[in-house]
Amino acid sequence: MDQFHASKNRYNTMEYRRCGKSGIKLPLLSLGLWHNFGDNDNFENARSILRTAFNNGITHFDLANNYGPPYGSAEKNFGKIFQEDFKTYRDELIISTKAGWDMWPGPYGNFGSRKYLIASLDQSLKRMGLDYVDIFYHHRPDPDTPLEETMGALDQIVRQGKALYVGISQYNAEDTARAAEILKKQRTPFIIHQPRYNMMDRWVEDGLLDTLADIGIGSIVFSPLEQGILTSKYLTGIPENSRAATEGSYLDRSRITGELVLQIQQLNDIAQGRNQSLAQMAVAWLLKDTRVTSVLVGVSNVAQLEDNIEAIKNINFSEEELKQIDTILNY
Ligand SMILES: NC(=O)c1ccc[n+]([C@@H]2O[C@H](COP(=O)([O-])OP(=O)(O)OC[C@H]3O[C@@H](n4cnc5c(N)ncnc54)[C@H](OP(=O)(O)O)[C@@H]3O)[C@@H](O)[C@H]2O)c1
Repeated sequence: MDQFHASKNRYNTMEYRRCGKSGIKLPLLSLGLWHNFGDNDNFENARSILRTAFNNGITHFDLANNYGPPYGSAEKNFGKIFQEDFKTYRDELIISTKAGWDMWPGPYGNFGSRKYLIASLDQSLKRMGLDYVDIFYHHRPDPDTPLEETMGALDQIVRQGKALYVGISQYNAEDTARAAEILKKQRTPFIIHQPRYNMMDRWVEDGLLDTLADIGIGSIVFSPLEQGILTSKYLTGIPENSRAATEGSYLDRSRITGELVLQIQQLNDIAQGRNQSLAQMAVAWLLKDTRVTSVLVGVSNVAQLEDNIEAIKNINFSEEELKQIDTILNY
């Protein structure tokens, strides 16, 4: 392994958007480590992805306690690469992690108790070899724990110096507004929401994006490529090594129907007319809305990342293009 020296040109082309009304700016594209960084994945490939991201101005890496598999292994592998390659660049990075899904057995390793969140972040910091994360998220709403307790835990974590900012993920508009009220009273630096959003899944347009804009909170949107469906990958079937071909993956092969392939082909034609790959158009489509602070992509290799980064060269759409996309996707 050669020693990593980041490119001197790393800030030449990426653009950054302010995250809500906070002091932090995020790159238009951020890198997620949900897949491809676990113990079953190729470690040197993971390293190359992180290096390429940073060399292109991607300053934000997003993790969670349970990314892997096995749970915790993405943080552990990231930590190893961080110590070897990125330690001297710590102050140029926004590193996030989360807790909210099942992590360890028994009643204290899941959901939103103060006990779980505080213990989980301590474990995450150990695995990554970090003193603090930049953003700590509650990963999903907990229907049973009082919101005051969960938001109180986020506040305690910041007061302990273990996170600089906090965020929430997968909360609907109403619960987001309630959480924001509690966090405001506590004076907790709540700056970001992480929802699912892409051309095919637009639930955030029914209130959440407006709520975030009203309260001055940024958004970083996940699964922007619908896990690879909104790329050229499935245009002619299911390739080997793709998520849909992987047993037990979150993208079931039954999703890739004839009707879906037809839609992807039609979208691909529009992308070609814009001189973009379908993945680039899908990322650009999200960035056209400035309420989206950053698009959180996952990639299984460097070529995919390089493809996606090019999206920022054209994030404008004509009315006609938008109408055609809506028609293809039945919106
Ligand atoms: N907060 C939450 O609850 C939550 C939930 C899910 C994800 N996330 C975050 O969001 C990140 C991204 O989510 P995601 O992985 O679902 O996102 P995605 O960007 O929709 O899908 C990523 C997958 O698409 C394929 N791909 C990416 N770029 C491509 C390209 N240019 N050409 C062809 N295929 C391409 C790759 O699949 P192959 O493996 O098939 O090559 C890649 O692994 C995660 O890493 C995580 O940080 C958060």
